[in-house]
Amino acid sequence: MLRKHHWWQDGVVYQIYPRSFMDGNNDGVGDLAGIRARLDYLAWLGVDAIWISPIYPSPMSDFGYDVSDYTDIHPLFGSLADFDALLAEAHARRLRVILDFVPNHTSDQHPWFTESRSSRDNPKRDWFIWRDPAPDGGPPNNWLSNFGGSGWEYDAQRDQYYYHAFLKEQPDLNWRNPQVQDAMLDAMRFWLDRGVDGFRIDVIWHLIKDKDFRENPVNPEYHAQMGEHRRLLATYNTDRPEVHDVIERMRNLLDSYEDRMMVGEIYLPVERLVTYYGTGGRGVHLPFNFQLIGMAWDAQLIRTAVDQYEAALPPHGWPNWVLGNHDNHRIASRIGVEQARVAAMLLLTLRGTPTLYYGDEIGMRDVPILPEQVQDPLEKNMPGLGLGRDPERSPMQWDNSLHAGFSLSTPWLPIADDYPQVNVAAAQRDKHSLLHLYRKLILLRDEWPALAVGSYRGFSTSDQVFGYLREHDDQRLLVLLNFSAKQQLVDLGSMLGGYILLSTGLVREGEPVAGTLLLDAHEGVIVCTECNG
Ligand code: NOJ
Repeated sequence: MLRKHHWWQDGVVYQIYPRSFMDGNNDGVGDLAGIRARLDYLAWLGVDAIWISPIYPSPMSDFGYDVSDYTDIHPLFGSLADFDALLAEAHARRLRVILDFVPNHTSDQHPWFTESRSSRDNPKRDWFIWRDPAPDGGPPNNWLSNFGGSGWEYDAQRDQYYYHAFLKEQPDLNWRNPQVQDAMLDAMRFWLDRGVDGFRIDVIWHLIKDKDFRENPVNPEYHAQMGEHRRLLATYNTDRPEVHDVIERMRNLLDSYEDRMMVGEIYLPVERLVTYYGTGGRGVHLPFNFQLIGMAWDAQLIRTAVDQYEAALPPHGWPNWVLGNHDNHRIASRIGVEQARVAAMLLLTLRGTPTLYYGDEIGMRDVPILPEQVQDPLEKNMPGLGLGRDPERSPMQWDNSLHAGFSLSTPWLPIADDYPQVNVAAAQRDKHSLLHLYRKLILLRDEWPALAVGSYRGFSTSDQVFGYLREHDDQRLLVLLNFSAKQQLVDLGSMLGGYILLSTGLVREGEPVAGTLLLDAHEGVIVCTECNG
């Protein structure tokens, strides 16, 4: 049969934070050998692709998002040979591999930056964003770093400032320089030639800054709890129109290979987000849609957001959904373990590509971090605001053995106290676990094209229930999600009878449905309508 959709459209992506997934050499930090050892688990779960957060050489100031060599592997994670072996073994299990590419900034230890900062007339002098001091000797403008303080760092050697959107150890590359573009495309080519299936592109909306370096305006909604980096709007240092030209160059490169993709990390309102699909499909294949992370967990608000997102998509734009990642508090901590089941059903039944965050499938929660355990530079720079990302990066809970089966040594971040109960092995044994719900949802997407690629239509019920139809050819599935802690009676109106295909409790499968349906507290169901049980 001719495939009508690409793997990145009807598949499910699973994010691995490599430091925390599985430790193959027992040094307390996860690695490539560890991932390899757990590929059978991922194949059992049924996901189609893994996205691995950065594994390149790095001083680890921002845990790998400060790259000092784009074409090698950090020894902490293994070697290029380990990577090739992982790729081959993943592919043998029909698992695609998406690398995290970090083009906006390098590490200050990258040889390009060492050279660039060495003088004002070296060949790489314009590879980073250098500006003269303001007349009073201060920073060239008011741009802030996302990790606190000014975005400008003074360098005595050049008697100039360089710009860094994140840590001062992460200088921003000058993407207006064609040599920089060429060098970065070469790095992408290096991995594409090795066989990677795609890239998650870090902070892609940051790549181009205003050429006149205009001052950013004040954020009218600012309050101290947000962190001082939000005092100004990022009007002139992000989301500049010319960014789409450099994305198009990346797209052209990807399109010169077979069936590769890129997903862009973009935190922007929907109307800006969708511009990253590019004119005529020359943008990223998927601009990450983080709406479910940022918004209140409310049936009607979410329905409105889904409808608006669907309406905003360009004709060629394929949707996608995310519940969590390594920069945001875990879904089970945000909405509770009961609603986490509803969230799983939502993520895997909305129209578009779902991305799962490792551990969310077993209901892992944020781990409290004591001040002396803090690793994340964001927490170190802006303590006590709840911005720190260590809680959601704790080691994967595999079983109830020492260190949760993650490592034989003390892990780099603490393991959740609940690991003796909440772990993969226990969840695999419990047929009603959240893990089995995830697996069944993923299996259903394979069995029912309506779920993977069908159309979407919102359905009005009570305030607490979000319902929608997914249709494809003669398949018609109705998803009903109860966002409340109370039972909800849903009137199905004139809908012909059907049966429950899956319930979040994994207890009502096959139950006939007609007329009305009583949803239990925190329950979601998928109903096959107009079909016989
Ligand atoms: C976004 C990444 O997801 C985050 O973890 C990192 O700190 C920043 N980009 C800077 O690279």
